[in-house]
Amino acid sequence: MSKTALITGASKGIGLETAHRLAASDLDITTVILMARQSDDFDANFAALDAEMGDSVTLVRSIVDVGDRDALIVAIGELYAAHGTIHYLVNNAGYTNPVPIHQVDFEDFERTMAVNVYAPFTLVQELLHLGNRFDVIVNIASTAGINGRSGWLTYSASKAAVINMSEVMRDELKIYGTRVVCLSPGRTATALRRVLAPEEDPSTIMQPQHVAQVIETMLGPTGQYVDQQNVIVRQ
Ligand SMILES: NC(=O)c1ccc[n+]([C@@H]2O[C@H](COP(=O)([O-])OP(=O)(O)OC[C@H]3O[C@@H](n4cnc5c(N)ncnc54)[C@H](OP(=O)(O)O)[C@@H]3O)[C@@H](O)[C@H]2O)c1
Repeated sequence: MSKTALITGASKGIGLETAHRLAASDLDITTVILMARQSDDFDANFAALDAEMGDSVTLVRSIVDVGDRDALIVAIGELYAAHGTIHYLVNNAGYTNPVPIHQVDFEDFERTMAVNVYAPFTLVQELLHLGNRFDVIVNIASTAGINGRSGWLTYSASKAAVINMSEVMRDELKIYGTRVVCLSPGRTATALRRVLAPEEDPSTIMQPQHVAQVIETMLGPTGQYVDQQNVIVRQ
């Protein structure tokens, strides 16, 4: 049976590597939807992946700010109308602006929650309302959501919420035959990590393809044998 995968935050980093792996995987995936905001990086990376994959898989680009709930709901409706069931959903888009408590701007906190927490919730709830039956949902949290990190209040709080929300989704969606996986990467060499740790040498830490490989495994048949409470991926 041909399957469709939707990956948020697929313009670069872990999301782009995941799109790459799923497009080339043997999970019967025939359509991969890459979601992110409009950018030159997204244009270039999508074009390169499309050229590499040729006719073996259909790649779809969905341009939306997932922090804009109304726009996200419209995009979900259009994608479902055009492509039908989303079998695999990877909620990967993430945002951070790490500052100490005194400097937290409330609007920025709200934006962090909108992108990191409300967007994955909205994707799951809207698709359920449309009658979608997921095979597997992977929510990308973070080791920063397990233990709060000094200077990362908004990000840590949002990722803790993702871990907790995933537990509820896992319990409630079991009856539909849906597996819900919460995956918490440690430090990974991406643009987001550069915001969190600008001084770090990216060659010394985990690379996005390592995380993408674990995501692919969790989506596949082997994934059902892993205790999925919170899969930690780190060096
Ligand atoms: N890197 C790490 O060390 C690390 C560790 C633990 C967890 N994570 C998590 O891993 C996930 C992927 O991050 P990454 O490290 O791969 O970072 P990245 O390379 O900076 O990628 C982040 C992705 O999220 C997308 N995104 C951000 N805001 C968005 C918005 N408002 N609407 C739509 N898309 C948006 C970005 O797309 P555009 O900006 O192009 O729209 C980009 O595709 C995130 O959830 C992050 O929190 C990362």
